[in-house]
Amino acid sequence: MNTSPSIDELFEKRISYPDFEAQERLGQLVGLDEQISRLSKIIGLLVNSKGLENWANKYHQGANQVISMILRRPPLIVLAGDVGSGKSELAETIGDAVARLEDIDVSLLPLSLSSRGQGRVGEMTQLISAAFEYTVSEAQKLKSSSGASRGGIILLIDEADALAQSREAAQMHHEDRAGVNAFIRGIDRIANGKLPAAVIMCTNRINALDPAIKRRAADILTFSRPNEIQRSAVLNSPLNQLGFTQDQINLLVKVTGPIGERKYGFTFSDLTQRLIPAIVLDAYPHQAITSKRALEVAQMMEPTPPFQEQIV
Ligand SMILES: Nc1ncnc2c1ncn2[C@@H]1O[C@H](COP(=O)(O)OP(=O)(O)OP(=O)(O)O)[C@@H](O)[C@H]1O
Ligand SMILES: [Mg+2]
Repeated sequence: MNTSPSIDELFEKRISYPDFEAQERLGQLVGLDEQISRLSKIIGLLVNSKGLENWANKYHQGANQVISMILRRPPLIVLAGDVGSGKSELAETIGDAVARLEDIDVSLLPLSLSSRGQGRVGEMTQLISAAFEYTVSEAQKLKSSSGASRGGIILLIDEADALAQSREAAQMHHEDRAGVNAFIRGIDRIANGKLPAAVIMCTNRINALDPAIKRRAADILTFSRPNEIQRSAVLNSPLNQLGFTQDQINLLVKVTGPIGERKYGFTFSDLTQRLIPAIVLDAYPHQAITSKRALEVAQMMEPTPPFQEQIV
C-alpha cells in the first residue's frame, strides 16, 4: 500500500508568525546574535526577494549580477552542532523575526525525523517527499508575479541526522540514500520554481553531511557549548531572582565550565533544563535554596557528553 501521510500526520505543529510566544523564546536565546542575524536575513530574502531588489535600487542601481547570484542560491540553511545548543529553538522561532523584518506572514512546517521514518521501508523517503510536496503547493499560493510575495513558508527538517549520512558512504542503507535524493529533489524544486520558501535542516553530524546537500546550503551555521560569558548570561537572571550574589553566581559559572580532566562544560540545555530545575527540586518543598547547596548540586552533575561523530 502506498498512501501518502496526511498533513496532520506529517507536521507536528504548524506555527504562524508573527507570534508573541516565538518572539519571547527567540529573545531568550543567549549568544546567538550572529546566527539570528544571518538566518533572518537569508530566510527573509528567500521568502521575499523584493527586499533585496529594493535595497539594490537604493544603494547599488544596476547591480543585477550580484542580485541574481544571491537570489539563485538554493533555499537551504543548515544548523549544525552540539546537542542542546539552540538549533531547534532558533529554527522554531526565527520565523517571527523574518515576519517582522519583511512585514509579511510566515508559516513554519516542522518535520522531525528523529522518531519518524524509521519504521517501514521507504517511510522516510515518503515523509520527505510529502513534506516538500506540501511546502511547494503552499508556497505556490503565496508567490506573486510582481511585487512582494504574499507570505513565506519555512520547512524545518529537524533531527536530520539520517539525512546527513553521506551518499558516498558505502555502508549507507539504500533507504537512507533514497531519502537524501528526495531531499535534494525537493530543494531543487523550490529553487527552480523561485518559490517564497526556505528549508532549515538541523543536524548534529556536520562532518557526515552529504556533499550534495552541503553544496546546496546557502549557509551552514554552527552551534557550540556556551563559553563563560554565555553561561553567565544564562544563569545570571534566574539566580539573581533567587537572591544569589554576583560572586556566588560567578562560582556556579566556573564549575559548569570545563574543569580538570573534563574538557567540556555544560550545554545550554544542561543549564536551563537540568541544573536550574535540580537546584530548585533539591530545596523543594521544605527549604529555601542556598548558594552552598546549589554549588554542590552543580558539582555532582555531569554535563551531557559532546556529540561524537561516528566514523563511517
Ligand atoms: N543559546 C541558548 N540560550 C539560552 N538557552 C538555550 C540556548 N540554546 C539552548 N538553550 C536551552 O536549551 C533547550 C534546548 O535547546 P534546543 O532544543 O534548541 O537544542 P538543539 O541544539 O536542538 O539540540 P539537539 O541537537 O539535541 O536537538 C532550549 O529549550 C533552551 O532552554
Ligand atoms: Mg534539536
